[in-house]
Amino acid sequence: MGKNIKNLLIKKITEKKAVVGIVGVGYVGESLGRAIAEAGFTTHGFEADEARIRLLKDSLPVNFTLHCDKKLLNNCDIVCVCVPTPLTKENLPNTSILEAAVDEVRQQLKKGQLIIIESSVAPGTTRNIILPILNKGGLRVGCDFFLAFSPERVDPGNSNYSVRNIPKVVGGIEDNSQRLGVVFYGSVVEKVVPVESCEAAELTKVLENVFRLINISLINEIADYARALNINIWEVINAAASKPFGFLAHYPGPGAGGYCIPVLPIYLLDSAKKNNISLPLVELATLSNRKQPEKIANMALTIMNGKLHKSTNGNGIKPQALLVGISYKENLGDTRESVALKIWNKLEEGGVEVHYHDPYVLRLNGFTSSDLNEEFLKKMDMIIVTTPHRNISYETLIASKKPLLDTRGVLNNYTGANIYHI
Ligand SMILES: NC(=O)c1ccc[n+]([C@@H]2O[C@H](COP(=O)([O-])OP(=O)(O)OC[C@H]3O[C@@H](n4cnc5c(N)ncnc54)[C@H](O)[C@@H]3O)[C@@H](O)[C@H]2O)c1
Repeated sequence: MGKNIKNLLIKKITEKKAVVGIVGVGYVGESLGRAIAEAGFTTHGFEADEARIRLLKDSLPVNFTLHCDKKLLNNCDIVCVCVPTPLTKENLPNTSILEAAVDEVRQQLKKGQLIIIESSVAPGTTRNIILPILNKGGLRVGCDFFLAFSPERVDPGNSNYSVRNIPKVVGGIEDNSQRLGVVFYGSVVEKVVPVESCEAAELTKVLENVFRLINISLINEIADYARALNINIWEVINAAASKPFGFLAHYPGPGAGGYCIPVLPIYLLDSAKKNNISLPLVELATLSNRKQPEKIANMALTIMNGKLHKSTNGNGIKPQALLVGISYKENLGDTRESVALKIWNKLEEGGVEVHYHDPYVLRLNGFTSSDLNEEFLKKMDMIIVTTPHRNISYETLIASKKPLLDTRGVLNNYTGANIYHI
């Protein structure tokens, strides 16, 4: 029975007759949906945010249409779930958006459907949280419907790699689910990497992010050491990177932001705790990354206190600081988990009035991106480069002669009494 249903779906996929649904058309859902539609599948995007639908709908391929209503999910043979998996206010995993989206999928679940979870989660989530929700409908996984996990690995702003040429890792709840996931993605992307289980696919994504977090935290720690001993860390990293094997360069900065690198290690730690497993290195890296923005803010406060007649806790006149780049990553306007915002909070706690300039984020939380004109820069007591956007006139910042703290290495070729490197 399950075999016939599976073979029918394989045939539909091979003939590009399978209809695909994308639940959550944000950054990931849009990129994935475009790739699937460009591969020739009729693709329906289901997006809760109507403003997002209005923004996107005219820019998509003709066979990729957007809907707010989920009724058409019932017409889909394959459903990819790409909704956010953020943290709670208490800094704990929050799978409630994913669970709600899967429950909506469950309401339209039909025989023969393949559900693929793309959202980043802790190992075990697909089997222990998603499957029980889908099971409520009475259909049996592996026979009546299929369930796989395939982590999304897109790198926003990276023009060399897109959905098509980043290998897609796929694990299934059981063999039929895995096989279907592999056949489907094999008809969309250049390379598929099958793994034995959903848990292996989930842990692959977690490992990639934890690897980055640990290396970023390590280089920030070594940079502290190098600064204290007056050694140029950038020169050291470039020298180490000349070794043709065994070293992967990571660079110091204000800490890792965004929805993946700092978030997934917390999902992992939560899962480890529930399984009585201790991961001290991951814990330390998470802690170190959390402290990095505070460290940068303290560096800026120290520079300001040393340079200014008005102290940061002194005569009532607030020192003025400018953050250059407020998004979490260069050349993008995404501010989720941005460390610049954490530096902003710490500076405010230190009695500083904060301004920002970001060509990709013109308005944020009631603030507006400031123009980098002479008159404005004259009023600043401190400038901190927090995100290394391409189209920023760093020369204008240097020409202002204001204390300038570069947390990203964009001013490495400049020296001067007013320029501070981390
Ligand atoms: N952005 C990245 O670079 C990236 C990379 C790899 C993995 N991921 C992971 O992929 C997942 C999605 O991330 P994203 O950056 O695309 O998030 P996003 O916030 O940009 O998009 C998610 C979209 O889902 C919509 N949504 C939420 N609940 C819904 C529902 N019930 N029905 C329909 N739409 C719903 C939201 O309105 C939003 O537009 C997350 O788990 C994230 O960790 C993100």
